[in-house]
Amino acid sequence: MIVLGIESSCDETGLALFDTNKGGLLAHRLHSQVAMHRDYGGVVPELASRDHIQRMMPLLREVLCESSLTINDLGGIAYTEGPGLAGALLVGAGFARSLAYALDIPAVGVHHLEGHLLSPLLAEPKPEFPFVALLVSGGHTQLMQVEGVGAYQTLGDTLDDAAGEAFDKTAQLLELGYPGGPAVSKLAESGNPSRFKLPRPMLNSGDLNFSFSGLKTAVLTLRSKHPDEAAKADIAAAFQAAMVDVLAEKSMQALEQTGSLQLVVAGGVGANRQLRQRLIAEAAARGARVFFPPLDLCTDNGAMIAFAGAMRIQQGQTGPAAFSVKPRWDLQELPRA
Ligand code: KG4
Ligand code: ZN
Repeated sequence: MIVLGIESSCDETGLALFDTNKGGLLAHRLHSQVAMHRDYGGVVPELASRDHIQRMMPLLREVLCESSLTINDLGGIAYTEGPGLAGALLVGAGFARSLAYALDIPAVGVHHLEGHLLSPLLAEPKPEFPFVALLVSGGHTQLMQVEGVGAYQTLGDTLDDAAGEAFDKTAQLLELGYPGGPAVSKLAESGNPSRFKLPRPMLNSGDLNFSFSGLKTAVLTLRSKHPDEAAKADIAAAFQAAMVDVLAEKSMQALEQTGSLQLVVAGGVGANRQLRQRLIAEAAARGARVFFPPLDLCTDNGAMIAFAGAMRIQQGQTGPAAFSVKPRWDLQELPRA
């Protein structure tokens, strides 16, 4: 079966085709709205929704053309049902549900984070269930025990800011613009991570939770003491070093606690090079392996939605033609596939 995946929860429109028979991705296309939102310093929800509407049909034509398929070859449609921006989600859900109705094929709403969580299964070698997952995106920082599709247990969560949010706020404090994560990590490459020492919040809290708002305040204080241009790279490097220390240490604690030898890393911050290198090295020292999605599937995309949706469509979990979206949605509420 060919499953069309549609992602529109935030500022990327992603469409992809996944073939359940061949078990592979046929095509995926992304339109990023980053340039459109940049002037505002963040995502403007109404502009995001309007842009998603304009991108759907052209992207659908592109993925079909690239796969030498027509719309009649589609066997199912998966779309991001939540969490995310309500208007943006409604565009994807409305498009997916009406197309599925017209073609008389099943459609399924997918949890965005489940998409991220399962995205390493699109790469080779794949992890095997069960595994531990570090989910680090713009809105979430969670360590999960993943027993199977839909069987997720939270081991640790952030008490305040998400990892990506901390990167984005630090970028703002350093006037690096939007989106912040890639800009901070690029600048950090040329900085000295040892010049300034920033706190490692909750490193030894004895649990697997995170807190990053204090780190952001520490960056603000440091920046006000060193407002010169030359200090920026060193502050970015100090910030990144603190983030990587905390994320790596808690991930290793999660492996220890669960006895797992597989760590899956998903979500936008998983694209961070320092974090990747550090996790690989620390896991290897314990005889464990780290699995990442392909680099272009770390941030939001339609491929992960097509894949997660395909798993659920194959189980008959497709839902009625009437639809809703879930701007807020806990991953642990999902049914097991
Ligand atoms: O998963 P994602 O694309 O969207 C959400 O579902 O949130 O994650 C976006 C987040 C943003 O906060 C962005 O700044 C961060 O991921 N990010 C990075 C990097 N690339 C993206 N953070 C650190 N280093 C990166 N290379
Ligand atoms: Zn995401």
